Amino acid sequence: MMDTKVGSIDVDAVREQFPALHQLVNNHPLAYLDNAATTQRPESVLQAMDNFYRRDNANVHRGVHTLSQRATDEFEHARATVARFVGARHDHEIIFTKGCTEALNLVAFSWGRSNLGPGDVVLVSNLEHHANFVPWQVVTQATGARMVPIPIHDDCSLDLTAYRSLLEGGDVRMVAVKHVCNATGTVNPVAEMSRLAHEHGALVTVDGAQALAHQRVNVESFGADFYSMAAHKVYGPMGMGALYGREELLEAMPPYQTGGGMIRSVSYERTTYAGLPDKFEPGTPYVSGAIGFAAALAWVERVGIDAIAQHERSLTEAATLALQTVPGLRLVGTAAGKAGILSFVMNQVHPHDVGTILDTQGVAVRSGHHCCQPLMARLGVNATTRASLAVYSTEEDLERLRVGLLEVVRVFGGPNGLD
Ligand SMILES: Cc1ncc(COP(=O)(O)O)c(C=O)c1O
Repeated sequence: MMDTKVGSIDVDAVREQFPALHQLVNNHPLAYLDNAATTQRPESVLQAMDNFYRRDNANVHRGVHTLSQRATDEFEHARATVARFVGARHDHEIIFTKGCTEALNLVAFSWGRSNLGPGDVVLVSNLEHHANFVPWQVVTQATGARMVPIPIHDDCSLDLTAYRSLLEGGDVRMVAVKHVCNATGTVNPVAEMSRLAHEHGALVTVDGAQALAHQRVNVESFGADFYSMAAHKVYGPMGMGALYGREELLEAMPPYQTGGGMIRSVSYERTTYAGLPDKFEPGTPYVSGAIGFAAALAWVERVGIDAIAQHERSLTEAATLALQTVPGLRLVGTAAGKAGILSFVMNQVHPHDVGTILDTQGVAVRSGHHCCQPLMARLGVNATTRASLAVYSTEEDLERLRVGLLEVVRVFGGPNGLD
C-alpha cells in the first residue's frame, strides 16, 4: 500500500469518512475521478441531513412551535456558515438556490432584465459553462443588449489583453466569468478581472461551481458582485446551491420568482416584497439541503482549504506528467496554475469509448462536452475525457487511470499504438 499522506492531509483518514468510495465497481475498487461533476459526501454531511429529518423536521419561518423554530435556526445558521465561508459582509447577501445554475439564472434574469437595454454589452468568457452562457444569451436577446465573448489562448487561459480592449470599447455592463473551468481546469484571475471591470463601470458575476471545494474563496477580496455556488460540488447535497450578491445590488433587484414567503403584503391591487434574503426565496426551501451544505463547508474547514489545495496541486502535477506518457494522448487545457481537472483527447478514440473502458476497470471519469460547447468549438473538438480530483484522490487513483488508458491504447491501437 502506497503512502497516501500528502501535504498535511491524511488521505486515508479522509477516505474513511466517505462511504461511497469503498465499493467495488466491475470487480475493481472504485477510483472515483468524476469530482467536477459531483463529489461524494462524508458521514458528517449525511448525518446532519438525516438528523434534520429524524428530529427537527418542520417548515421554516412560519411556525411558532418548537420544531419549526429549531428548523428555522438551523436553516439560518446554514446561511451564516455559507456567508462566513465565502467572506460575505452580511448573512442576507446569501440567497439559497437549487444549485449553481439557478443562482446564475437569478442574476441574469433579475439583474439583467431590469438593467440591460439596447447598446449594452455583456462579456461572457469563451470558457463558460452553459449555465453562465445561455441565460445571458436569452436575456441579451430579450433586452436588445449584446453578448460578446472574451477570447482564450490555446492553453485555455483567458486573453486578458483582449479583455481589456473589450472593456475599453465601452458599454460593458456585466462580465460573466467562471472562477475555475470545469472542462480545462483553468483558474481565472477573478480579482484582477473584477478590478478592471469596475474601473470601466461594469459589474462581475462569477460562477464559483468548481472553486469552492478546491481553493480559498473570498468574495470581498475578489471584488465579485455576484458569486454562484453548488453544494454538491463541495461534498454537500445535490439540488442545493447559493448565490452571493452584494447587498445594494440585491436590494435593487426585482424578485426572480414569486409566491409565498417572499412577500410583505398582498392584495388584489398590489404585492410588496419582503427584504433580503426572503425576497429571492419563495416557497418551502430545501432545509435539509442547506443544513447539509453547511455541514459540508464545516467539514472542509476542519480539513483545511489550504491543505486541500496543496494536496490537489501536487496530484495535478503528478497526473499531468503521468498522462503525457500515454501514447496518443493530448491534454486539453494547460494554463499555468490550473486546478485538478485533467481533460484530454486520444487519437481516433471517442471519449465515450475511453470512459467505457475505464469503467470496466472501476475508474470513473466523464466524457462529453462538459456543458461547454462554445469552448469545444473554439478548441476544435466535440468532446474530451475528463478526470477531476478531490480531497480524497490518491496517487493510486491516478495510477489506475494511467493503466486504464494503456488498456484503451491496447484495445484501439494498431501495432504502433494510437496513430
Ligand atoms: C462551472 C460550472 N458552472 C455551473 C454548473 C452547474 O451547476 P449545477 O448543475 O449544480 O447547477 C456546473 C456543473 O457542472 C459547472 O461545472
